Amino acid sequence: MKRIVLIGPPGAGKGTQAGIISEMNQIPAISTGQILRDEVRLGSELGQSIKSIIEAGSLVPDELMLELISKRIAEKDCENGYILDGYPRTPNQAEALIRLGIQPQIVLYLKIADELIIERLSGRRVHESSGRTYHVLYNPPKVEEKDDITGDLLVQRADDKPENIKTRLFNYHASTQPVINFYQQQSLENKVRFVELDASLPIEDVTECLKNVFTD
Ligand code: AP5
Repeated sequence: MKRIVLIGPPGAGKGTQAGIISEMNQIPAISTGQILRDEVRLGSELGQSIKSIIEAGSLVPDELMLELISKRIAEKDCENGYILDGYPRTPNQAEALIRLGIQPQIVLYLKIADELIIERLSGRRVHESSGRTYHVLYNPPKVEEKDDITGDLLVQRADDKPENIKTRLFNYHASTQPVINFYQQQSLENKVRFVELDASLPIEDVTECLKNVFTD
């Protein structure tokens, strides 16, 4: 069973590469952000309670995230493994995985400077229901502002506004950087394979580096 964690700042390209790794390894990519956005879009009770949190770029409480992730990885399509995109992102969440008896084998850290992130996120367009992601310059859809597969109009995420990006970056440095340090330490103890990738490279180049990780 392959258990892969993708970690890195907002806009590093986790979602973009998760889809590619998913196809390469034939295991599902689980984006906690997408799970939460789906709840908001569908207007569920949970969705209504978290809408303002995720749109502002704040973090959803750890207990709720644990409930959602435990439920998702218990589904049948995860029996041969999965890619976690966006979880764990706090030390509590990393500890919760350990309590569940889940040890990732590979942690892929997409490293990129804060300065590049604003441009990435302000040019991002998404297909709301599938989560397919584009960029107006770096990964444009075939027809401007339309999803390649359904032709639906693409939208901008509410949390991609400059003021909310700042909040997300703050949370990343405060809460997720310690998780990265934790996995680096685990790799020194041979508990996990920790791979740092230069996420400032073009999409295809990052994918090329990832391919090397899986053929090593
Ligand atoms: P989430 O959806 O996980 O957001 P995020 O971590 O901020 O990451 P993003 O989705 O913004 O970026 P990405 O790294 O996936 O980049 P992408 O591939 O799209 O979470 C959203 C919210 O949900 C959180 O803020 C929080 O509120 C809540 N949440 C989620 N998980 C939680 C948890 N565990 N605990 C608590 N709360 C949680 O790429 C970005 C853009 O750049 C795209 O336009 C893409 O086309 C382009 N691009 C990608 N790679 C490249 C490249 N190499 N070169 C040029 N352009 C590129």
